[in-house]
Amino acid sequence: MTLTSRNDDVTLTSRNDDVTLTSRNDDVTLTSRSDDVTLTSRSDDVTRRIAVTGSGSGIGKALAASLRAGGDEVIGVDLKDADVCADLSTPEGRALAVESVLARSDGVLDGVVACAGVSGMTAQTVRVNFFGVTALLEGLRPALARAPKPRAAAVASISAVQPADPEVVRACLDGAEPQAVALAERAAERGEGWKLYPSSKSALARWLRSRAVSPEWAGCAIPLNAVAPGVVLTPMTAPLFEDEAMRAVMDQAVPMPLNGHAEPEVIADALRWLIAPENSHMAGQIVFVDGGAEATLRGPDVY
Ligand SMILES: NC(=O)c1ccc[n+]([C@@H]2O[C@H](COP(=O)([O-])OP(=O)(O)OC[C@H]3O[C@@H](n4cnc5c(N)ncnc54)[C@H](O)[C@@H]3O)[C@@H](O)[C@H]2O)c1
Repeated sequence: MTLTSRNDDVTLTSRNDDVTLTSRNDDVTLTSRSDDVTLTSRSDDVTRRIAVTGSGSGIGKALAASLRAGGDEVIGVDLKDADVCADLSTPEGRALAVESVLARSDGVLDGVVACAGVSGMTAQTVRVNFFGVTALLEGLRPALARAPKPRAAAVASISAVQPADPEVVRACLDGAEPQAVALAERAAERGEGWKLYPSSKSALARWLRSRAVSPEWAGCAIPLNAVAPGVVLTPMTAPLFEDEAMRAVMDQAVPMPLNGHAEPEVIADALRWLIAPENSHMAGQIVFVDGGAEATLRGPDVY
C-alpha cells in the first residue's frame, strides 16, 4: 500500500507488517502494531499552508505564531526577517512577493492573510494598505483556487467608517495607483493627510466586498473577508500611547466600551476563524472586532 498526500510531503509504504512513514513536516505520526496500523495527523487534512503578510510584527506576527502552534505551515512575508522579504509598496516588490510565495508553496495555498499595513498621513498608506493588499490577494488567488478548502482574509480597520477622501478612494477602486498616489500627495500638502489612512481602509473594504462575491472568489469557493480592529496594542499604535493628548483624541475617535484596547492575539484569533475550514459560507464581510466602537459610532440602524 502506498499513500501520498496532496503535497507530496507525506509517503506511507506498507508491505505486510513492514511499514515506513516519511513526513517533511514532522506533523504526522504513524503507529503500527502487527497488521493494525493507524495514521494520525495533527490537522485533519495534513498541514495547511498559509501565507501571512506583515508576519514580522503586531497582528501578523501573532497570527503566524498561532497558526504555527496549531500545526500549519506559514509563509511569512514582510520587509525583513521573514520567509519572503519584499516591499509591498511597489509593483516590483509585490511581484517578487507573489513569485516567491508561489515558489515556496508549489503553487498551492490553503490560505492567504494580508496583515501588512502602515498608518501615517502620507501616500504610503495608499500604496501598502490598498494596492499592496489587493495585488497580493489577486496574485495568490490562482494558488488558492488549487487547494481543497481555500480561505482568504485581510485586516481592514474601524478607520474605514471615518471621513475619507472620496477621490483617493475612487482612484484606488479604479486600480489607478499613480493617480491615487498623486491625489494622496495633494491631500497631504493641503493638510488633509489624516484622511489617507481611512481612505486606504475604506477602499480596501469596498474592493473586498465587491470582489468577494465575484466568480473569481465566491465562484471558485474561496471565502474572502476581513477583520476590522479598533485600537490594537502593537508597534503601530505604541507612539500614540506615549502622548496623553494623542491618546485622548484616539479614545474619543475609537470608543471601545467592551474591554478596551485589544492585544494582537484577539485579532489573530478572529482571522484564524475566517480562514478556518469551518468558514464555508461567509463572503465579503468586514467583521468589526473593535470593543464596540463601530456600533457606538454608527448606531443601531447600520448593520
Ligand atoms: N494596531 C492597530 O490599532 C490597528 C487597528 C486597525 C487596523 N490595523 C491594521 O492591522 C494591520 C497590522 O497592523 P499592526 O498593528 O500589527 O502593525 P505593525 O506595525 O505592528 O505591523 C505591520 C507589519 O507590516 C509590515 N509592513 C509595513 N509596510 C510594509 C511593506 N511596504 N511591505 C511589506 N511589509 C510591510 C511591517 O514591517 C510590519 O511587520 C495593518 O493593516 C493595520 O492597518 C491595526
